Amino acid sequence: MKDNSTLDNKINSIIMINGSPRRAKSNTQYIADSLLEGAREAGAITETVYLYETRMQFCQGEFHCFEKTPGKCMYAQKDEVQSLWEKAVTFDLILIGSGLYASFLTGRTKMFLERVLPLLDPHLEKNGDPDYIDPSPPEGLLNNILDFLGPHILPAIDPKNYNKDRGGEYHHRLRINEDGTHFKIPPIGFICNAGLPEQSQFEVIKEYARDLPKNLRNECIVEIYRGQGELFTFRSALFWPIFKRYQNHLKQAGREIVGTGKISEETQAELEKPLIDHDWYMSLANAHFDRELGDFSSPLNRIILAHEKIHGLADNTYKKVQDLKKKYFSSK
Ligand SMILES: Cc1cc2nc3c(=O)[nH]c(=O)nc-3n(C[C@H](O)[C@H](O)[C@H](O)COP(=O)(O)O)c2cc1C
Repeated sequence: MKDNSTLDNKINSIIMINGSPRRAKSNTQYIADSLLEGAREAGAITETVYLYETRMQFCQGEFHCFEKTPGKCMYAQKDEVQSLWEKAVTFDLILIGSGLYASFLTGRTKMFLERVLPLLDPHLEKNGDPDYIDPSPPEGLLNNILDFLGPHILPAIDPKNYNKDRGGEYHHRLRINEDGTHFKIPPIGFICNAGLPEQSQFEVIKEYARDLPKNLRNECIVEIYRGQGELFTFRSALFWPIFKRYQNHLKQAGREIVGTGKISEETQAELEKPLIDHDWYMSLANAHFDRELGDFSSPLNRIILAHEKIHGLADNTYKKVQDLKKKYFSSK
């Protein structure tokens, strides 16, 4: 890709980090594929990595990467995460993709994000200002301990100030490259889909997408949230027009990211719309679970079976449904 110190705002390359255990067959990737296709149409290079195919260890919280081997994780040679991060920062945009699992990102996605620490310098700085001088204790500290404690420490533990961020935000510094330039982590984006229908479930991820970049000293420039995500698993011909429409908006988003560095408000609004009515989604989900459990008695399932007989639906549960159908009808 490119030398990390020369990152500019143009998005010419995108790495998709897929954190779903379903990997290439995931609903996350179904969404990402169209977005990346649009990005490629606009001239970008794209690559996808599956975290569930990557050798990964949990961060052990030992701060080796800060203190003992600065910039190197204790697992750098033992698994593939540090090299993946080193590769990811050579792209112009890092897309993080995950299904919503227990109301948050999948375990491996979080595991990957935690392992970013070696890319940061341990020292703190205030409000992004590397020249801000931290207040040091005055000369003769022991004589003046109360003078020092008074203004600098006691206010912080005063219950009145307990919940307040006084004086600004503090973050780790960016590492300095050998040539003196700051090492940069490129902007990130989130693609997250959920099995339940409502978009409000993504509030926690949205908050996270705003907070995490402050610590990575970059920004989040892409947010794709998709309730009703399990609709993609059906891959049913019934939904093709709906999928096609959504895919077209995703491709448009991909083209816009490459062209302008962000998704336009119009495209974002289209991407947030429900694919189908939420109550219908619930009916379809319940009918699906009934079928999976061998119960074809509901009116909806009878319609689906009849439709399937006529049109040969491309449902990925097709074989299972056929087997169950044989069993169900032959026993009548
Ligand atoms: C262990 C587990 C936990 C889940 N938790 C939630 C949840 O909290 N909210 C939700 O809407 N869907 C939840 N789901 C459903 C997934 O979000 C849904 O299947 C999604 O499409 C998976 O995306 P993927 O195919 O990209 O992995 C959960 C699924 C699993 C397997």
